[in-house]
Amino acid sequence: MNDRSATAIASPNIALIKYWGNRDANLRIPANDSLSLTLSGLETKTTVRFLPDLERDSITINGQPASEQTQARMEGFLSHFRVSSLHAQIESESNFPIGAGAASSASGFSALALAASTAAGLQLTPRELSVLARMGSGSAARSVFGGAVRLYAGANSESSFAEQVFPSDYWPLVDLIAIVNPDHKSVGSTRGHALAETSPLQSARIADTPSRLQRVLKALEFHDFEALAEVCELDSNLMHAVMQTSTPPLLYWAPATVTIMQAVRRFRAKGEPVFYTIDAGPNVHCLTLPEAGSRIRSLIEQLPGTIDVLEAGIGEGAHLVP
Ligand code: DP6
Repeated sequence: MNDRSATAIASPNIALIKYWGNRDANLRIPANDSLSLTLSGLETKTTVRFLPDLERDSITINGQPASEQTQARMEGFLSHFRVSSLHAQIESESNFPIGAGAASSASGFSALALAASTAAGLQLTPRELSVLARMGSGSAARSVFGGAVRLYAGANSESSFAEQVFPSDYWPLVDLIAIVNPDHKSVGSTRGHALAETSPLQSARIADTPSRLQRVLKALEFHDFEALAEVCELDSNLMHAVMQTSTPPLLYWAPATVTIMQAVRRFRAKGEPVFYTIDAGPNVHCLTLPEAGSRIRSLIEQLPGTIDVLEAGIGEGAHLVP
């Protein structure tokens, strides 16, 4: 499209090595490298139109006007793209619950970065797009790409970019997202990142990240599910340990979160290929293999406190649609 408008679709991602804490909060330069899988089936579709007659950006999310907080964050982000100081009309729709640890900021800012940069007539490389998306939401840098994606912490903004490490069809892992609470989380990631440094455990988590990241890369390379399970649960537990020992402490888990974590461990001890990983919310991502998917899904559905299970595969990166 060349009429100062564009529509893009992007998917959320689930981090296997988590990003928690920023070295530069304004630019969202992360404290550590992270690695995620881009999810298929879950999508945010965003249209950006730069228009001459708007007094401010007009933003609707799932048909509702954006909250003041979201409006301010998105306006700030759009300043990177504005065409001759025009304001934009933005319509964004997601087909999954927003703000509940299903990473809507990742798909949202990745789709917005692609739609806004295209509408503004910028022709960015995927790497440049990931740098810009990162300034909207750190994890959004990773949703620019499909498959398994690494976000480099980098030394400055340009070197803090994402890149694909394995394509989406490399290993058809399945993510069963157990929803235990679909509401918006009380403390968003942005505030949480700012607290990470107050935990005495954060420096140890960061120092050990390169070793965990190498273990994940090796497990992916050799399709070693058991090795992947061990290191991903460790990484998730380390991030939640940092959250829980920050000042003030953040406890994102609900009782049902722990029920599912324990059940997943039990299933795996009995030989089922499944592990958990949890973002900044109470919902639990249960990663498994296609052949076990329906079995694991019904086991999770039966656990007390599970309201719903969303299912995703490994998907593609952000792309434009007509
Ligand atoms: C726990 O990317 O949501 O999901 O940059 O403030 O939008 P902002 O944070 P965000 O943080 C992601 C935190 C996480 C872990 C991860 O996805 O790596």
